[in-house]
Amino acid sequence: MRTALVTGGARGIGAAIVSTLAAAGWRVIAADIDADAVAQAAREWIDAPITGAVLDVTDRTAVVALMDAHGPLDVVVNNAAIPADMLPFAELTPEHFARALRINVQGSFIVAQEAARRMDSGAIVNIASRGYLGGIGGAHYVASKAAVVGITRAMAVELRWRGISVNAVAPGMVETRMIEGFSPAMRNKLTEMEPGGGPLDPSVIAGAVAYLASPAGRSVTGQVLLVDGGKTIGTRLY
Ligand SMILES: NC(=O)c1ccc[n+]([C@@H]2O[C@H](COP(=O)([O-])OP(=O)(O)OC[C@H]3O[C@@H](n4cnc5c(N)ncnc54)[C@H](O)[C@@H]3O)[C@@H](O)[C@H]2O)c1
Repeated sequence: MRTALVTGGARGIGAAIVSTLAAAGWRVIAADIDADAVAQAAREWIDAPITGAVLDVTDRTAVVALMDAHGPLDVVVNNAAIPADMLPFAELTPEHFARALRINVQGSFIVAQEAARRMDSGAIVNIASRGYLGGIGGAHYVASKAAVVGITRAMAVELRWRGISVNAVAPGMVETRMIEGFSPAMRNKLTEMEPGGGPLDPSVIAGAVAYLASPAGRSVTGQVLLVDGGKTIGTRLY
């Protein structure tokens, strides 16, 4: 059975990716730093080919141990990240920046590098954000997701010779815990800007990931697939 690893897989978009890949016939390792969330999700995965694992993606020793325990991977989805707190630029500290880069970028780098060392061929899908294009607030998050796009393109060029595709999926606003932290005013403001009238369901992002993970999607590499209901293609002209 083909094996996929999904980081941050215990909840939100990650959990939707885990369920979608399992339903498509993958054996899935759902790794997440939150042990309680893994235990809770595992109760729902009882009859599915899904194994929950507690993992901090920034801990290379733990990443190696997990990969050695579960055999070669065919697909890796770098989904784990910290939330996009929308702080104004003037209020950001070096610690905000360091944390976003350590978890969102370095964590994805470590997992992708250790996986690529062990993969014969397959697909790596990095979850970026439409925010990588920029916006008001959360410059540290924007920078981290732009870096995710950067490593996606760099990895794609190097790994294409080995039959490994590397792409990014950049979601717009998705209904998960990540946006629960927004104030009602911020949420209303963001909702107003959504062409679909509100946040996307996590399953929509999972569908895009499943395509890129599938044999049909493997000829696509080095791309950023924006899944945002069209929010980024232009503003209203009238
Ligand atoms: N929700 C949105 O509107 C939105 C929009 C654009 C992009 N994204 C991206 O989608 C991805 C999933 O976000 P979500 O909305 O489901 O968020 P979420 O907070 O619901 O899920 C993120 C998961 O990652 C895990 N995690 C955090 N740090 C980790 C670490 N060091 N090691 C392992 N796991 C770790 C968390 O425990 C959590 O389960 C993220 O990359 C996020 O940046 C989300």
